[in-house]
Amino acid sequence: MLEGKNVLLAISASIAAYKSAFLCRILIKKGANVKVLMTPQSADFITPLTLSTLSKNPVYKDYYKTDTGEWNNHVDLAKWADFMLLAPATENTLAKMAKGICDNLLLACYFSMENRVFFAPSMDLDMFKHPANQENIAKLQSFGNILIPAEYGELASGLVGEGRMADVENIVAFVEKQMEQKWKGVKVLLTAGPTYEAIDPVRFIGNHSSGKMGYALADELILRGAEVTLVSGPTSLSTNPKVKVHSVVSASEMFEKVESNYQDVDVVIMSAAVSDYTPVTAYDRKIKKKEDSLNIQLQPTKDILKFLGENKKKQKLIGFALETDNELANAKVKLERKNLDFIVLNSMQDKGAGFGGNTNKITILSKDNKQFEFELKTKAEVAIDILNTIEPYCV
Ligand code: CTP
Repeated sequence: MLEGKNVLLAISASIAAYKSAFLCRILIKKGANVKVLMTPQSADFITPLTLSTLSKNPVYKDYYKTDTGEWNNHVDLAKWADFMLLAPATENTLAKMAKGICDNLLLACYFSMENRVFFAPSMDLDMFKHPANQENIAKLQSFGNILIPAEYGELASGLVGEGRMADVENIVAFVEKQMEQKWKGVKVLLTAGPTYEAIDPVRFIGNHSSGKMGYALADELILRGAEVTLVSGPTSLSTNPKVKVHSVVSASEMFEKVESNYQDVDVVIMSAAVSDYTPVTAYDRKIKKKEDSLNIQLQPTKDILKFLGENKKKQKLIGFALETDNELANAKVKLERKNLDFIVLNSMQDKGAGFGGNTNKITILSKDNKQFEFELKTKAEVAIDILNTIEPYCV
């Protein structure tokens, strides 16, 4: 997949820069032509000599060659590259890329790139989750740059959390997958987020689902070349502009949108936390406070996934199950009852799993009785695990 590809390996100043040597080595072994770009400060972490030796090419760090005065043509370098791989990507370099600041050769090349740019963030957990950094990452993604998700684990500071540069093997696998576009032409219908069931014009019955898992799946599916339709309950999230989004509020609206898109798709992933009940009456005026207790009568909503299972033709169906007790047994019952191909189980017993947070811990059960267990990971990494597991059955 990387054989003969021209790769600009761009390195900014993080301790993870030492891993760029291994990254360079793997790319070369895979048959890629590698030219290394460095920010001036990154040379404090790894020497240009190491990288020029491994890449078998000069290393580009300054605007001009100090001995001859000849300039390093950033436009030619950018045009040469089939893709740029920025690893490690520091908070500073990402911020400059997001804001259009061009004060070194690496940035000049970035702003001249016409082909794909991948970036693998590397920073301490508090820096990583700072809203300014998260905003910059989202902005870079909206420009079409491709995020290689940071991993969860021990950081150089000794703290444990999200922000560690993805493992070099994972970076290469990620890039290969992206270049491969295995899901090209596959139509996927995805649901995400909670549903809100109106009690009156100001109140509703809802749940704590943030939609992050479903949105991470949407992003990952786009990277793999799928055509994605996302039916989303109320969330504050945004997604890749290539995703066709239908925003809905209630379970019945979600049912309608899913049903109308169902015939045309190859794969359905129901990650939404659909309300099981809805008020029999939604009052059109705000319910006023009274002294005595208030009863709200609820009726069941339609089970969307069960409906899809009963009306399944060619589609592969993937459901989610959030359980507190007898997790595996309950998930298995759901898999069978709803005629699914896979079910992704989150256990509320697992710390860091479930609603709201950025991490999740899952087990996937398949209809042919296989069981796949995964560690606690970021939701972006979990999306990769889910798609890697179902991919052989779906594409
Ligand atoms: N689901 C659905 N429609 C509903 C309720 C759930 O499509 N009205 C889907 C969810 O999107 C999820 C799967 O069914 O993919 C399992 O949801 P979950 O809430 O775990 O299970 P339920 O079937 O609702 O059963 P229970 O709440 O009793 O565990």
